[in-house]
Amino acid sequence: MDKIVSLCKRRGFVFSGSEIYGGFVGSFDYGPYGVELANNIKAAWWQAMVHREPNIVGLDSAIVTHPKVWEASGHVGGFSDPLVECKACNTRSRADHLLEEVEVFADEKMSVEEINAVFDSVREKISCPKCGEKKFGPVTKFNLLVKTNLGNFKDDWSADPAYLRGETCQGIYINFKNVLDSTRVKVPFGIAQIGKAFRNEIAPRQYIFRKREFEQMEMQMFVAPADEMKLYTLWKEKRMQYYLDLGFKPENVRWHEHENLVFYAKAAFDIEYNFPFGFKELEGVHARGDYDLTQHQTFSGVSMEYLDPYTNEKYLPHVVETSVGVDRTFLAVMTEFYDEDELGGEKRVVLRFPKKLAPIKVAVFPLLKNRPELVEKAKEVFALLSEHLRAEFDDNGNVGKRYRRQDEIGTPHCVTIDFDTLGEENPMLKDTVTVRDRDTGEQTRVPITELITYLQQ
Ligand code: GAP
Repeated sequence: MDKIVSLCKRRGFVFSGSEIYGGFVGSFDYGPYGVELANNIKAAWWQAMVHREPNIVGLDSAIVTHPKVWEASGHVGGFSDPLVECKACNTRSRADHLLEEVEVFADEKMSVEEINAVFDSVREKISCPKCGEKKFGPVTKFNLLVKTNLGNFKDDWSADPAYLRGETCQGIYINFKNVLDSTRVKVPFGIAQIGKAFRNEIAPRQYIFRKREFEQMEMQMFVAPADEMKLYTLWKEKRMQYYLDLGFKPENVRWHEHENLVFYAKAAFDIEYNFPFGFKELEGVHARGDYDLTQHQTFSGVSMEYLDPYTNEKYLPHVVETSVGVDRTFLAVMTEFYDEDELGGEKRVVLRFPKKLAPIKVAVFPLLKNRPELVEKAKEVFALLSEHLRAEFDDNGNVGKRYRRQDEIGTPHCVTIDFDTLGEENPMLKDTVTVRDRDTGEQTRVPITELITYLQQ
């Protein structure tokens, strides 16, 4: 983990949020290569879930909605984590996380009384992560929804707040009818959305794994009740295959079944990834029954029923959900493709990203920075490539150093413009360049006219 965190900072992938002000807990900023990687992660997901699925469409709904959305969803009443405060240093911790450390597992659906009973039974074994004391107060429930005064101009707005969305899928449910009425979709169909979500996490931790402001990629498939479990099984398989197709090793991903289901759910499994701190949830795949549409129908008074055009049957569609965080995928991708090896007798760090995820697809170097004819030709090649691929021009330091830098950000190819490119020594090589492969270090001479095809293979 330390190596990944340090690489992310050193090479401009991830910075601590508000760093010059001493940081802001649970907040991180994506730097120049981080934003490219995050965008590629989102593009890969969007391509798999929207562009390649004939019956899934996209959506970008508002972050702040009518507050009733969050009453209907159950978040205002029940979206909370168990909080416990250290009486010695006032540090607030998640009671279930402290319990996990002494190998006692608390369920998120436990009542305050139940979790207090569990906590009390092992209280003497649990120490405050900050000061080490064992002086905890009682466990209370802390609501994770983030309140905002958007559109509320009263001085005391907190009794009547709006909320920053705690998950993106509520925007999907409330647009179910709009999408149905404005497009060609028919049940079963899905709506996919990528966007920011906010949770007042009591103890954000494990770097970008648990943040307060994070991004989700969610797809809700609206299905006929009788088809729910069939489509659930199909989407479980598809989502696991997605990670294998991205290049994740099979031993690094596994299923985890939720032990206690919420009353409306038919099934819930997580895809867990083998993060540097062990297997943890990356994505959830859930069969949610008709709970969500029922709730919004009840609270809004608007019918969410679907009239099947083939059978004339009217029903409330059930929902199969897939939900994954961009930030967690980012951390999984960094973990999966981080490598250290030796090339040409030199140790190096290399990110073996698949091409579609690599922040930079090709780096273009003039062999020497102080030879204008090389620099000019390299800029020409950069201009040509950058029309088709995310390219970077680099003339800093010697070529060996530039290779190391590009290896560390996972660039699959480096192109060097040398004197042969200018045809100075061997006219046969005029207008050819050296292409160096990140993984093998092999160098190939390629005519500039064939470069784009070569790099896109
Ligand atoms: N709509 C279902 C839902 O939101 P969730 O398990 O609470 O379910 C789904 O969240 C995914 O969102 C998780 O699997 C994880 O990848 C991501 N996620 C949740 N909370 C997060 C946090 N605090 N920081 C980063 N990612 C988070």
